[in-house]
Amino acid sequence: MAISALQFERSKYAPKLPKALQGPVKVVEGKKTESVADQEEIQKLFPNTYGMPLIAFEEGGDAGSLPVMNVGVILSGGQAPGGHNVISGLYDGLKKLNPENKLYGFLGGPGGLVDHKYMELTDEIIDEYRNTGGFDIIGSGRTKLEEESQFDKGVEICKQLNINALVVIGGDDSNTNACVLAEYYLQKETGIQVIGCPKTIDGDLKNEMIETSFGFDTAVKVYSELIGNIMRDANSAKKYWHFIKLMGRSASHIALECALQTQPNIALVSEEVAEKEQTLAEIVDYIAKVIARRAEDDHNFGVVLVPEGLIEFIPEMKTLITELNDLLAEGQQSANDFKALATDAEKREYVIGKLSKASSKVFASLPEGIAKQLTLDRDPHGNVQVSKIETEKLLIEMVDVRLAEMKKEGSYKGSFSAQNHFFGYEGRCAAPSNFDADYCYSLGSTASVLIGNGKTGYMSSVRNTTKPADQWIAGGVPITMMMNMERRHGHMKPVIQKALVELDAAPFLKLAENREKWAVETSYVYPGPIQYFGPTEVCDATTKTLELEQSK
Ligand code: FBP
Repeated sequence: MAISALQFERSKYAPKLPKALQGPVKVVEGKKTESVADQEEIQKLFPNTYGMPLIAFEEGGDAGSLPVMNVGVILSGGQAPGGHNVISGLYDGLKKLNPENKLYGFLGGPGGLVDHKYMELTDEIIDEYRNTGGFDIIGSGRTKLEEESQFDKGVEICKQLNINALVVIGGDDSNTNACVLAEYYLQKETGIQVIGCPKTIDGDLKNEMIETSFGFDTAVKVYSELIGNIMRDANSAKKYWHFIKLMGRSASHIALECALQTQPNIALVSEEVAEKEQTLAEIVDYIAKVIARRAEDDHNFGVVLVPEGLIEFIPEMKTLITELNDLLAEGQQSANDFKALATDAEKREYVIGKLSKASSKVFASLPEGIAKQLTLDRDPHGNVQVSKIETEKLLIEMVDVRLAEMKKEGSYKGSFSAQNHFFGYEGRCAAPSNFDADYCYSLGSTASVLIGNGKTGYMSSVRNTTKPADQWIAGGVPITMMMNMERRHGHMKPVIQKALVELDAAPFLKLAENREKWAVETSYVYPGPIQYFGPTEVCDATTKTLELEQSK
């Protein structure tokens, strides 16, 4: 396979490890744990994996080799930079414990375990993927491991391959399911351990013990480079407003971090919109006012950052979407009547007539294209595919209308021309930054030690990550510790609590403190591309989010 010059040089990079993982490891058990909420229910559901102690690794354990083990690894959900390094860290860690150990990769995500699709990972394969982006070594998928029949299929293949442990690399849902799997395998006395690793570019799997999910660092740095480039263009041409939507459907960590790195004129944060119960019209008005203010200085250009999940955080839009889901649900008479109508105009009128008064007003205010999108694109569960809604275009259209009104009123004198962008896939498979290369390799290595010590139901944890890597603290966190009960698809379920942007925490406060200045002045920062070779302050810097959160 042909590789680039950078890839060739980068393949030689030896990821840095915490000191405790550089030689034989001593496993130290800490305090017993409790779930973050709903302790009684969670304990009832996880009688075998609840309350386990925290685990920290220290230097100086027993150097002797352990009995041979076979391990299976699964990549779950959206790609995130560094996945290959988790696998290479796991592989090297297992070989260190016993050179006879084998690592199998289940292909195409959790479905590979159920369908018995796998490959053995060898030195040659692993070496080809060290320090590279993507999940293509074994592929990923979004099949959810939830059913006992799936778990039992997993046991079959594990028995066949003599696998005694599985490592699930995934986000909050995948790790929740990993814990359910660990509990089930203990109850059934299968002898199969399950360990999770925290992945997602969205950054919404984090808590006291998991400082960040891997991939976030690289993805936000790639997006920030691109945003910086657009800012330079905007400031050079001085004729466009750029509306940039950023991935992150359930939380705005990506948009917030990119804002802190690049200092745009406007950065929306979904969690703030929800907290203040802002309407779409209020958001549009806010953007239009900033545009009008900049136009007073003849600055008819700017940059607006929009988090992917914004729509669902606007209370009135959430209600509208719920009503539309019910109205157009498969099998409903109303859905059949809707389908039978011939023209878009008739369909729009039909929907407006059926919604509640408040929702029909919101629906009627939407640009035609977006309104149509809301009634058409549905997922297999009949829900609107919110992530496919082009929020950046919606805002441009509505801001344009609002500015025209303001012009008539005499409160706007500029000219408005906009460009739209969506950054997501550009960063999800980028070559991992030094931080992600090191962090991921450490997470994989940590998983191997947890397995070697017979642990199950734990997530690999690497902390103290704003310090140099040799001072990082590696260990394990019981997954049940991160859980609470939440309503999902109409049922109360034990799930890992999702981390949303906290409006009273340092990263958001930093934005709030500066945004008025950034709105009016042109204070852009141009981060440039990720660097691998050069001074440490350029190559090894963490995200602003991590830096601000850890400096408390
Ligand atoms: P994970 O939560 O699985 O890590 O995926 C997150 C994400 O990158 C979101 O930011 C984005 O909305 C979604 O994946 C898109 O996924 P897909 O490409 O499968 O539609």
